Amino acid sequence: MTDLLLSPTVSAQDTFLSRRRRDRAASRIRATSASPSPARRAFSMSPASHRRRRSSILAEPGSEMNETLSQYLPRPTPKQAAEPIVGSYALAFDIDGVLMRSGDPIPVAPEALRMLNGDNEYNVRVPYIFVTNGGGKTEEQRCKEFSEKMETPVSPNQFIQGHTPMRELRKKYGTVLVVGGIGEACRQVAEQYGFADVVTPGDILKWNPNVCPFRTLTDEEHKNSRYRDFSQVKIEAILVFADSRDWAADQQIILDLLLSKDGVMGTVSETYEEGPPLYFAHNDFVWATNYDQSRYGMGALQVSISALYKAHTNKELFVTKYGKPNYETFKYANNLLAEWREKIFGHKSDPTTVYFVGDTPESDIQFANKFDDSWHSILVKTGVYQEGTVPKHKPKVIVDNVLEAVKYVLEREHGVHEEEYILEEDEEELD
Ligand code: G3P
Ligand code: MG
Repeated sequence: MTDLLLSPTVSAQDTFLSRRRRDRAASRIRATSASPSPARRAFSMSPASHRRRRSSILAEPGSEMNETLSQYLPRPTPKQAAEPIVGSYALAFDIDGVLMRSGDPIPVAPEALRMLNGDNEYNVRVPYIFVTNGGGKTEEQRCKEFSEKMETPVSPNQFIQGHTPMRELRKKYGTVLVVGGIGEACRQVAEQYGFADVVTPGDILKWNPNVCPFRTLTDEEHKNSRYRDFSQVKIEAILVFADSRDWAADQQIILDLLLSKDGVMGTVSETYEEGPPLYFAHNDFVWATNYDQSRYGMGALQVSISALYKAHTNKELFVTKYGKPNYETFKYANNLLAEWREKIFGHKSDPTTVYFVGDTPESDIQFANKFDDSWHSILVKTGVYQEGTVPKHKPKVIVDNVLEAVKYVLEREHGVHEEEYILEEDEEELD
């Protein structure tokens, strides 16, 4: 099957076959029912074996396990007469600019997920996960809200935020500064991940408001922030979990620590190389919101901090980045998908193809193209990418929106394709 970069005006459905070819191919299929069509090869399990497998992966009825898993098992829709089969491929979705914008669902998004849950003409269910660079809430909170917006249950077991893989850092560091997000939310995330000692910029400002002379904590921030003597505390790492709500104060405190001796506020290193390491949950320079033009994101904050550090020290700042398009997140996404497919769908083998739907060429398309040939990048026009521009990283296909992306995938996997038509015609000629 050839991978085509669609011109923005061509719909996914029209790409594979012209209408004439489709009609011819469809009549060919009706006429040749003896041999299984190539489309069938995309299914890795027969309905019967799927039924068997499905019952074998569920725990005893009524058990906690059964309840947990079964709520994420997509149910057949009334349209479906038979038990749907499960696609051997999978999808992974970016969120902002693909399914949501500024907290509002993109109108076609729920329908796109419904299709993957079985509401499609091929009677197939397709496993999928979400890989967002966003964050600032626990995976459970985020999934609860997201499920409502998407009108379908979404499990934390199919969901990665920018900071999700950073939970592993709890094993490496004791006291950490967690930056970004609203109020105390990121502290709660870090504590839920198991970090032993989490401090926030608010705690530092409560200790000494002169750290940032133009920033006054609100009454609520003051109440929630935890007082301690930071002249005696060694901060071992700086973790930027989510977008900063106050670049000025957050940058000042991050710089103070980077330039410090062993992460102690009020100290200054002579070499500027004794401060704690800096980690970012992602490095999106811009992202899609409800404003027409993309807004600066965490990657832009990194540029700013690095420039300040360089101006101050004449040295390059080293930052460890998670999120798309970085490998750590790719590895995490693959593992998550493998577990999700096995637990919920009973699939132990690797997916034949992972379709990744994103809106940001620098993050999503690079991520999908970079590490594994079985990933297939799909760029939508509802986010950062602007129609008429040349994406910095070339997707396999560009479509209007996430619904078109799902239709494209289903068509690519199950539709009657030109190759099939040619193959059958050749076979006929041999007869
Ligand atoms: O802060 C979130 C943003 O930069 C991008 O989120 O879902 O497009 O990866 P997403
Ligand atoms: Mg996005």
